[in-house]
Amino acid sequence: MNRVDTLMARMTLPEKLGQLTMTASGYTVTGPVIAGDSTQSIIDGTLGNLLNMVGAGPVHEMQKLAVEQSRLGIPLLIGLDIIHGHRTLFPIPLAEAGLFDERLWERTAREAAREGAAEGLAMTFAPMLDVSRDPRWGRTAEGPGEDPWLNGRIAAAKVRGFQGTDLSAADAMAACAKHFVAYGCVNAGREYAEVDISERSLHEVHLPGFAAAIRAGVATLMPAFHDLNGVPMTAHIPLMRDWLRGKMGFDGVIVSDYNAIAELIKHGVAADLTDAAVLALKAGVDIDMMSDAYRKGLPVALEQGRVTIEEIDASVRRVLLLKERLGLFDDPYRRGAKAEDAEIISQRRALSREVAAKALVLLTNKPATGRDTLPLPAATQRLAVIGPLADAATEMKGPWWGAGEHEPAVSVLAGLREALPGATVHHAAGVAIDGADEGGLAAAVALCDGVDAVVLCLGERATMSGEAASRATPTLPGRQQALADAVIARARALGIPVIAILFSGRPLVVPELAERADALLAAWFLGREAGHAIADVLTGRVSPSGRTPMSWPRATGQIPVFFGQRPTGRPIHAADYYTSKYQDVDNTPLFAFGHGLTYGRMRYGALQVEPQRLHAQGELQVSVTLHNDGVHEAEETAFLFVRRKVSRVTRPLLELKGYGKLRLAPGESGVLTLRLAADELRWLDEDLQPVFETGEVEVCVGPSAEVTGLQRQTIELS
Ligand code: NOJ
Repeated sequence: MNRVDTLMARMTLPEKLGQLTMTASGYTVTGPVIAGDSTQSIIDGTLGNLLNMVGAGPVHEMQKLAVEQSRLGIPLLIGLDIIHGHRTLFPIPLAEAGLFDERLWERTAREAAREGAAEGLAMTFAPMLDVSRDPRWGRTAEGPGEDPWLNGRIAAAKVRGFQGTDLSAADAMAACAKHFVAYGCVNAGREYAEVDISERSLHEVHLPGFAAAIRAGVATLMPAFHDLNGVPMTAHIPLMRDWLRGKMGFDGVIVSDYNAIAELIKHGVAADLTDAAVLALKAGVDIDMMSDAYRKGLPVALEQGRVTIEEIDASVRRVLLLKERLGLFDDPYRRGAKAEDAEIISQRRALSREVAAKALVLLTNKPATGRDTLPLPAATQRLAVIGPLADAATEMKGPWWGAGEHEPAVSVLAGLREALPGATVHHAAGVAIDGADEGGLAAAVALCDGVDAVVLCLGERATMSGEAASRATPTLPGRQQALADAVIARARALGIPVIAILFSGRPLVVPELAERADALLAAWFLGREAGHAIADVLTGRVSPSGRTPMSWPRATGQIPVFFGQRPTGRPIHAADYYTSKYQDVDNTPLFAFGHGLTYGRMRYGALQVEPQRLHAQGELQVSVTLHNDGVHEAEETAFLFVRRKVSRVTRPLLELKGYGKLRLAPGESGVLTLRLAADELRWLDEDLQPVFETGEVEVCVGPSAEVTGLQRQTIELS
């Protein structure tokens, strides 16, 4: 018998249920506070998993109780939400999505895992793979943005990064693909609300990211809190038992979300905790996080014949196998055995700075006095850095800082002062992030006098996005619009440019600011190096290359606005009243998916697509020549979309299938070549089965999903 079977043969029912239970320690609070002291349960062997612990010392202490004092000595699985860095915070996931760079997505996850594992942790509850097309939903900040193809690429890179090549290595962690599935579609963007979507969008938009994570070998997965078309995900047999376990062959561990099994009672599908435990176990949930439904309910259910010991054993086996794969039985202390040296930590900070600068999205950059507003001219000597997010180091960390809570972060003000040592940099907040007080506004406006440029730092408080942070009106909070209006009016009168930097965990509805500022940047929340990275871009040390992974609405009423919409029988036509449009706002987003300027000026040459007729086993080669007509070096990201012209099932107006990057010096040209396997051109037919349908497909390439910027060529699938 192998180790797991030997152990299982010796385990009592309470010990088995302990392996199916995960309880929070008190370090960080990520849900309702329910847990009491867990130490006695660990010694009793009735608690096998913990979350929310930090520090190799405390982690090893707990591990010791399990390994040295419990009857069977089974090590604990200890996890934490390492969402965008452990102590060294990287940009939030939404910002990172806009890197369009598999290597960097993987690297930041790798570094986060190394840092977390160095503190004894073996599991992270990441990556979050919930496609979001609704910026009202606060958890948009934690995810990949609006596109399913992009989500799949990020999923695979993150799993590779967190888990490394050997899950048992001292620096590897089990990743957790979450939240299964379609959590981003909660009704009207309201957190934890119901989701009611079609089977087609489930299969085309929401499942592919999870499929990609499973193909990449993700070790664990977490069902979401919501109910999907009437069935709460924690009890969803068709999707978890049949699709995940059956069709996809996922044999890893499914861990419930925090208290989600008990919440089946409030959903109204379970009468009591025993009923809830039965539903979750039958659906395939192995670990009960924080409900204590398995320990309390399954003995009763077993007695009543509502679950079998084989069903319980299957889950216990999966948990023990995961612990074995993680190397916990061989050496439960290998993670956290050695503190990281200063050199590694400083390299990680440098990576955070690099990634943050690359994630910053230059949304507009208008001409000011004969040149683009940004980068700032070398002669800049006097700056006014205004706004409630200018000197707000803690906010830079974003909504989920985990163990980075007590780590310092760099504010915009500090970053700019460091980058411009000889310059005079004035600062005033003007107004608070939220609230109605305009008392500081006049003093802030007065700072515009006598400076060369104004940097206006506006946006959300970090906790305005993230879990349980939905906003019905995702605009500038408080009196920030008034501050922007007053500062821009004064700067106009003085003839100086205003560079607006927006901090948010979602695209904000800011048409006026976009119209009136001389340059606008989406800084999301860039992590510990935010201020340095922003200064790098403003001063031109780094040429921006970030792209927005989500469309920016012009008005809240447009939500959801996204590039993958399907055609209508009555497309918008200005001269035709009975067409698909709003009376009060354009159909298009303010900034399209993929939008983001560089300091170069990229011109796209003619598109070349080979072959013109493509067979099911073939491969497309798509090339475009890019010319940098600007005066700065820049890295361009070009996107490859396709559009099926005729199909019995309507296809989205554009489908993302690839991207590529090219760095060009001023005056330089280069050819960007993208490859696409014909297999990627299979769609789901009327029965949701993948088919390679013959017929015409438009191949589109351009700098974003904005349709007027795309070059198109039609090919034939045969
Ligand atoms: C609730 C969140 O939905 C989930 O993402 C997280 O992993 C757990 N809390 C644990 O903190």
